[in-house]
Amino acid sequence: MLSRRGLMKLGTVAGAASLVPIAASRAALGAQNAVATGANPAHLHRPPAGAPVVTGAAASVVPFSVAMPVPPTLQPLFRSPLTDFYLLDTKDGSEELLPGTRTPVLGYGGSYIGPTIRAKSGRRVIVRHRNRTTTPTSVHLHGGHVPANSDGYPLDVINPGECRTYEYPNRQPGATLWYHDHAHHLEAEHVYRGMHAFYLLEGADEAGLRLPSGEFDVPVMLTDARFADDASLIFESDDFRYRNTILVNGRPQPYFKVAARRYRFRFANASNLRIFQLSLGSGEPLTQIASDGGLLPAPVPVTAVDLSPAERVEVVVDFSRYAAGTQLVLSDTLAGPILRFDVGGPVSDRSRVPSVLRPLPPLPAVMNTRQFAIGLDMTTFQFSINGQTFDPSRVDTTIKRGTTEIWEIKNLDTAFGIPHDFHLHLVQFRVLDRDGVPPPAAEAGLKDTVLIGPGQTVRIQATFSDFTGRYMYHCHMIDHSSTGMMAQMEIVP
Ligand code: C2O
Ligand code: CU
Ligand code: CU
Repeated sequence: MLSRRGLMKLGTVAGAASLVPIAASRAALGAQNAVATGANPAHLHRPPAGAPVVTGAAASVVPFSVAMPVPPTLQPLFRSPLTDFYLLDTKDGSEELLPGTRTPVLGYGGSYIGPTIRAKSGRRVIVRHRNRTTTPTSVHLHGGHVPANSDGYPLDVINPGECRTYEYPNRQPGATLWYHDHAHHLEAEHVYRGMHAFYLLEGADEAGLRLPSGEFDVPVMLTDARFADDASLIFESDDFRYRNTILVNGRPQPYFKVAARRYRFRFANASNLRIFQLSLGSGEPLTQIASDGGLLPAPVPVTAVDLSPAERVEVVVDFSRYAAGTQLVLSDTLAGPILRFDVGGPVSDRSRVPSVLRPLPPLPAVMNTRQFAIGLDMTTFQFSINGQTFDPSRVDTTIKRGTTEIWEIKNLDTAFGIPHDFHLHLVQFRVLDRDGVPPPAAEAGLKDTVLIGPGQTVRIQATFSDFTGRYMYHCHMIDHSSTGMMAQMEIVP
C-alpha cells in the first residue's frame, strides 16, 4: 500500500501529468504560448495551489444530501440452458447527477452508470450491443478472458445505428469485472460521459463461502467529473485540474443507509486519471477479500484501499460494530469525504468472512521475459510505450499461445513525476515485485491493472492461454492511452 505521503505525492504529480499533454497539444497546434514564453515544461510540474476546485453546478451541492443509488441489474432477453442473452442500447440520456439539475450523459441504457450484468462462471453470456448514439463505440469487458473478436478491439467499432454481438465464455474465476467503451481515440471521452458499468461474475465456489450477498453485495463505481454551470459535463483531454467532483455511483457525496450487519462492497475506479486512496472513518478496519481478478486466498485486513484507474477492490465491512445512528464517512486522501454510511438497527446476519477464500492458481514456469518502457516521449510530447504510440497496423508483441511470460515495465516519467497504470487485456496476471519488493498481500492476487509510480519498475507474470488474436495493453489512465500510450499483442497458435 502507498503511504499517505506517497499518495499525496502521486496525486499532485498525477495532476502535473496532465499539464504536459495540454502543453504538447498546444505546441502541436502551433499556439504561441509555450513557445513565446520559452517555457521549459519543467515549470508545469508545479501543482495548482490550494484545495481542489469544485466547479460549475457541483459547487453548490450540499454534502450527503442525496442517496447513493445502486445500478440496476440488467435482465436477460432470454436464457437457454447454458447461455444468457442480453440486448443493450448505448444511447444519449439525461440524468439527475446533481440534485435539481439534469446532465446529458452517454451511456449503456442511457445511464451514467450502466446496468450491471450478473454472470456466473461456467455460464456463457451473449450481449448484443446496439449503438443508438451518433458516435462509433466498441465495448470492452475489462478483466474478461474472452475471444479476440469479442474483446472490443478499438477499430472493431459499432457505427451509429448498428449492432454487434459479444460473446463472453466466463471460463474464469468469479470477479468484479466492468465493461466500458474502447473506440479508437474516442474512449476517453466516451467513458468520461458515462460508458461504464459493472459485470459481476460469480464463481461456483462463492455460495459456499457465505459472503454477504444479494442487497448486501453492493457495487460502487467511482468517477470524477467537471461540471459546467448548466450541469453539463466538460471534457478536455488530460484535465486533471478541474475534474474535482467525485461521483459515487454517479452522485456527489451521497449517503448510503446500511443495516448493522456485514456488507460486501465492490469498488471500481472508472475515472480517467484519478488515483483514489479510500479509508473509513478514522481508519476503521476493512477486510479486503478480492482484487481485480477475484477473491484473494485469504482475507486481508486493511485500513486503506488504493485504486488507480480501472482497478477493483472488494471489501467486507461489518457495521454491527456500530450503534444505530452512527455515521461513518468514507474518505479519499486527496478529495476528502466522498460517501457516508448511515448505520441503522441490527438485523440477523448469517454471512461471514471465511479465513480461507480461494487458492491462487499455480505460477507456471516462465518461458520468456520482455521489457517495456512507458512514458512521455520528449521529442513528440506524446505518451508512448517503448517509444511508440499506438498504431493499429503494427503488432508490437507476438506471443505464442500457452506461453508464460514475465513483463518488466518501467515508468520513465521521473522528470514530471507522472504515474501510469498498466493494463493487459485477455489475462489476469500476478504482480511479482515493484522495484524488487514483493507486493503486499492485497496486491498479490489476480490483477489486470497495476499502478507504476514515476521511475518504478513493476514485474508481472502472465500466462497467455486459450485464445489467439490481437489484444491491447495500455496505460489505463485513458486520457493517456487514447492519445497513444497503448500497444497490441498478437497471440499466435
Ligand atoms: Cu479497461 Cu483496454 O481497458
Ligand atoms: Cu481491459
Ligand atoms: Cu499513463
